Amino acid sequence: MTLTLTRSDGLVLSDDPARIDLACCTEWLAGSYWASDRTPEQVARSFAGSRVFGVYHPDGRQLALARAVTDGASFCWVSDVFVDESVRGRGIGSWLVGTLVRGLQEEGVPRFLLGPRDAHGVYTKLGFAAPLVPEVYMELDTRPTRPTRANVDPAILADRSTA
Ligand SMILES: CC(C)(COP(=O)(O)OP(=O)(O)OC[C@H]1O[C@@H](n2cnc3c(N)ncnc32)[C@H](O)[C@@H]1OP(=O)(O)O)[C@@H](O)C(=O)NCCC(=O)NCCS
Repeated sequence: MTLTLTRSDGLVLSDDPARIDLACCTEWLAGSYWASDRTPEQVARSFAGSRVFGVYHPDGRQLALARAVTDGASFCWVSDVFVDESVRGRGIGSWLVGTLVRGLQEEGVPRFLLGPRDAHGVYTKLGFAAPLVPEVYMELDTRPTRPTRANVDPAILADRSTA
């Protein structure tokens, strides 16, 4: 069953795959700092393998995207959060990610991870925090877009060094 919510300003939040504008999302991701190396075929495959949430204008135009890479039971990686530049700062990003997280929590998913280089403020308001024991995490990441200390928002590094 798909989820559909309508905000008081008429914007619609949905996880219905039929609503997704793949061409628009592919263009957004091609211009992002984290997925500029993904081919359109990889974007399509990643969407097919995850739950994609979108926010839509009442006329059907897609305005935002967030992807839940999840088994629906134990874990979710929150990825590809993108709000069209023309509508940023109107609470769309937090509505989208908050709804995604709450929906999966209601299904019993207890654990969510994400790894943006900036915009942590969006996620801290939704309950996300630095890992309690960062030393336990390991990664295998061969992407050219893998974050380095040099390209992460210095405010995030400063926060962590005083934690
Ligand atoms: C980051 C992004 C998703 C935020 O979406 P948005 O719809 O503009 O965010 P919201 O309006 O829901 O903001 C929610 C809260 O987060 C804060 N916030 C928004 N962008 C922020 C940023 N870049 N850094 C820190 N805090 C931020 C807002 O001030 C707001 O706080 P408030 O509730 O006290 O007013 C959007 O700016 C975007 O798509 N950026 C480009 C792609 C990107 O960087 N994605 C993040 C990688 S995961």
